[in-house]
Amino acid sequence: MPDKTRARLGIVGYGSMGSNHAHSMAQLENVDFVAASDVMPANLEQAKRDHGVAIYSDFREMLAKENLDGILIATPHYDHVPVSIAAFEAGVSVLTEKPLAADIADARKMIATYEAAKASNPDLLFAAMFQQRTYGHWRKIKEMIDEGALGKLIRATYIITNWFRTQAYFDSGGWRATWSGEGGGVLLNQCPHNIDIYQWLVGMPNRVTGFTSLGKYHNIEVEDEVTAYMEFDNGMIGHLITSTGEAPGSDRLEIVGENGKLIFENGKLTFFRTKESVLDLIDNSPERFLHVEHSIEDVPYPEPTTGNHIAIIENFADVILNGGDVTVPAVEGAGSLELANAILLSSFDHCTVDLPLDGEAYQRKLQELINTSSFVKPEVKSADDDMSKSFQ
Ligand SMILES: NC(=O)c1ccc[n+]([C@@H]2O[C@H](COP(=O)([O-])OP(=O)(O)OC[C@H]3O[C@@H](n4cnc5c(N)ncnc54)[C@H](O)[C@@H]3O)[C@@H](O)[C@H]2O)c1
Repeated sequence: MPDKTRARLGIVGYGSMGSNHAHSMAQLENVDFVAASDVMPANLEQAKRDHGVAIYSDFREMLAKENLDGILIATPHYDHVPVSIAAFEAGVSVLTEKPLAADIADARKMIATYEAAKASNPDLLFAAMFQQRTYGHWRKIKEMIDEGALGKLIRATYIITNWFRTQAYFDSGGWRATWSGEGGGVLLNQCPHNIDIYQWLVGMPNRVTGFTSLGKYHNIEVEDEVTAYMEFDNGMIGHLITSTGEAPGSDRLEIVGENGKLIFENGKLTFFRTKESVLDLIDNSPERFLHVEHSIEDVPYPEPTTGNHIAIIENFADVILNGGDVTVPAVEGAGSLELANAILLSSFDHCTVDLPLDGEAYQRKLQELINTSSFVKPEVKSADDDMSKSFQ
């Protein structure tokens, strides 16, 4: 453990999110933001102007020269892989933006490199930026599920269609919404947070059937509308519906258990609590048509309910300095990527896929999509950099 009060951190990828995270680092008392790496000279100059940090066009040089405790990766998705692997090989901890990578085979490679490096460097960290795990409502729901308030889980349905995006958004970055630049659409860019929360709350399914529409609402080659049906080991079923083409969108999570139903929607958490287990009633009630008695309870939960990337960075620095657990270990963050890949593979192959996903099979499919792509990206227009609008 380093004998100091501030972790020396660098950022790889000083674009929209990287500059946002730099602003957070500058506010934190346990972080020394000392270096930035980017492939665009203008972004590097911006980092120097904003924070007076050392700048590098090559992240490997930054890793070699800056004696960093950790880096935050905020590059496009495919670059998360070589950057994190180089960091682990240099003995530097990593906090990566979501998703871990574009496909689960690459994410498993990152995790394997981390595990190998950790064997000789036990303090090495690999964390993921899934800031929604800090939100009060998700933490409350997790607590209720783990305490058994719902009993045996029966169904978890997440309708998360409030990721509305215009064509101008997709045209604002050359790598956006392409197989070669991003590795997918709503499942890889907007929805990973929601899929992460879903699998954190109810676990991973063992079978997935997915239906996706490619470029249905936008001139893009990747998915902008998704429906998935999921089957779990314990008999629970699940649904995920997401879209970037709907407005006003929904953000509604329903989790049904034998003891009732939890609904989170419009910032309100409601527990429809049954007096008796519904599964017991099915088996034992003599009534043929039963009104199941239940109460309706508003469940309070703490702040925060949005933003909060800063808490993930603060925790990363704190664990570097003092030990403990990172908020979201990358290995857990891999679940949302595996699920996203499984939904896409199922949709492409018109079949149900089993989990754990055959990562190589998905990687071959992704490579085929990249190789056969004839999509021509429109001329890149300048981006609206108010990133706070992106995670509302
Ligand atoms: N956690 C969140 O709420 C949230 C929100 C938006 C985006 N993201 C994620 O943040 C990441 C970055 O997204 P963005 O919107 O900031 O993209 P962006 O295009 O604005 O920024 C990416 C930056 O990475 C740089 N870059 C590319 N390859 C590089 C390399 N090899 N080495 C160094 N720099 C390199 C680019 O020049 C650019 O400056 C993505 O993983 C995205 O999914 C997370």
